[in-house]
Amino acid sequence: MNWDQLYADRAKLMKTSEIREFFKLTEQPEIMSFAGGFPSVDFFPMEKVAEVMSSLIEEEGRYALQYGPTEGNVELRGYLAEKMTREGIAAGLDNILITNGSQQGMDLLAKVFLNPGDMVIVEEPGYVGGLGAIRNYQGERLPVPLDADGLRTDLLAARLRKLKKEGRQPKFAYIVPNFQNPTGICMSLARRRELLALAQKYNFLIIEDNPYGEIRFEGEPLPSIKSLDTEGRVIYLGSFSKTFIPGIRVGWLVADEPLVQKLACAKQATDLCSNSLGQRVAYRFASCGYIDAHVNTLSERYKFKRDLMLSCMEKHFPAGVTWTVPQGGFFIWVTLPEGMNARDLLLKAIDRKVAYVDGAGFYVNGNGKNTARFAFSEACPEKIARGIAILGQLMHEEMAKFLKTA
Ligand SMILES: Cc1ncc(COP(=O)(O)O)c(C=O)c1O
Repeated sequence: MNWDQLYADRAKLMKTSEIREFFKLTEQPEIMSFAGGFPSVDFFPMEKVAEVMSSLIEEEGRYALQYGPTEGNVELRGYLAEKMTREGIAAGLDNILITNGSQQGMDLLAKVFLNPGDMVIVEEPGYVGGLGAIRNYQGERLPVPLDADGLRTDLLAARLRKLKKEGRQPKFAYIVPNFQNPTGICMSLARRRELLALAQKYNFLIIEDNPYGEIRFEGEPLPSIKSLDTEGRVIYLGSFSKTFIPGIRVGWLVADEPLVQKLACAKQATDLCSNSLGQRVAYRFASCGYIDAHVNTLSERYKFKRDLMLSCMEKHFPAGVTWTVPQGGFFIWVTLPEGMNARDLLLKAIDRKVAYVDGAGFYVNGNGKNTARFAFSEACPEKIARGIAILGQLMHEEMAKFLKTA
């Protein structure tokens, strides 16, 4: 069969993320990998999950193992409506859609909103899963660079003015405001307000994806963009993947009721409903306050890993290499001197059994060749210390060669 000839136009654009393919290489046990942005398995409450699962099956097995409503388990939705309201996002039951991870929320939004060629504002660099969902529905990604305060709203304003003259406007902006994947950057309050003002002026929606916001090491939490929104223009995506466990695949979306209904129609054709068992597990852990307490412990434990990785970078990386200092989340973003290639360095690093992800895959147009993402979330402290030291040595060697030829 000539499959390529048979695919729909949109399917021709679908491709596996180069970054995810690369993970397979780096997941070998002997590699000291900072590539995958996974949570640490050491932080999963294994015994407690086994205990809760077992009593769940005993007590409510007939529901937990059955199909459920497309919108999600009503108790979990109620819990999330209250949680969101506590966090400044006024929400009732009908504003909450449970999704199969927040990734599904992104996919459903792209499915429901994008016609081929519709424009979407994205962060540059940006989260590959979000970029991929937009591409798969034939959206045109409009990358806007970040600085230490997040999306450059001044550059966005200029782009929007130009687009308006051409009679074009974006459908939505896809933003990860807290401890962004891949840079670890947090969008400042002023930028949040500016983005919202631009969205109002130029009439586009904002998708606020916030899987890392609660994993904060220091500083005060900033208001979500959705909490500043008075028009229902912002759609919020949440997830239990980083604050609890990703294997249950439970995330949620907060939006105006008509949109939740439309998304539920789209979801019905996708998977009928999210994982009933996983939702009940999430509800049991969330409703008794376990997850809130767990998040505090997680933040302390991830902070330890961040501090360790930062101090090792400080000690071993050569002058000319810079990096972000994230106040939460899983990632540090490293920048090599202009002209140095992070992919070439990576291939040499893998020979020495160390891995990270080079940054170009997070850019829409293959820019960022001198950048790289380092996840401190997954590796154990020993691997962080040893891996960064080995990499520092390699960087010194490569830097000496680079400076000679530059
Ligand atoms: C920014 C961002 N959004 C969404 C996701 C997907 O999370 P979930 O497991 O909730 O689908 C990830 C996972 O790494 C992420 O980094």
